[in-house]
Amino acid sequence: MRRLKDWVRVCLFRDAPLCALHQKFRQYLQLQKKNWPFMKYDVGYFYQGWERLKISGIRRTEERFSQYEVEEILRELRKQRAQIEVLDVGANVGFFALNLAPYVTHIDAVEVNPYLVKIGEEAARYLGISNVKYHKTDFTQFHSDKQYDLIIALACYSTDDSKINIELREYFERLYHLLKSGGVLLFESHNKDVNNPHFFQVIDSLNDLFIKRKEKFFKNSILRGGKRYFYVFEKKD
Ligand SMILES: C[S@@+](CC[C@H](N)C(=O)[O-])C[C@H]1O[C@@H](n2cnc3c(N)ncnc32)[C@H](O)[C@@H]1O
Repeated sequence: MRRLKDWVRVCLFRDAPLCALHQKFRQYLQLQKKNWPFMKYDVGYFYQGWERLKISGIRRTEERFSQYEVEEILRELRKQRAQIEVLDVGANVGFFALNLAPYVTHIDAVEVNPYLVKIGEEAARYLGISNVKYHKTDFTQFHSDKQYDLIIALACYSTDDSKINIELREYFERLYHLLKSGGVLLFESHNKDVNNPHFFQVIDSLNDLFIKRKEKFFKNSILRGGKRYFYVFEKKD
């Protein structure tokens, strides 16, 4: 249904360049269907939506930006830093990263699924965005010789495709080491964490690593995004 809606509003109403881009996306989604043996987000169409490209995902990037108060977070970061280096973990097609790109210096977008990476790279090329670099790699194997001012880790430590299942505390420790001193981490839980006591035990045990600056709970507020916790953490020295 979302696929048809997007086709009608882009191709039927003759936005030829954008329609050509959607056709490329479709080819990658078909290749994913054929060759990717793991779970497909979201049943083979888009998990991340982005109005800028008229893609109807189940999770709308613009809405998430405003719910996470990303602009305010960036304003605070800019007070202390001239450059903002960002890491997006499990970036999916990277529409969140591409939406963030104009406000920051550089983004490393790490995503294990090669078809989602291809879509993201096509989107970046189409929009002329050159400060997002996609890394087609498993985050647990990702090594960087730099640290980041901002890390985005949304719905991505125990994914339904079982491609990342890392013990939660270990995951936070990894993110801690990738952050610069005073750097900021945006972390979003999974649906299944809402009634998971272990999840909250770990969150409560993070005082040695982070200062919890903000905590929010979203109840079905993002289209089919489900109930999720969202946190803003600042790295402790
Ligand atoms: C639930 S989606 C969340 C996507 C994105 N962070 C967001 O919130 O819009 C999880 C993403 O993590 C990716 N992923 C799963 N295992 C991964 C791994 N080991 N390394 C990097 N990415 C991974 C999946 O391919 C998928 O795009």
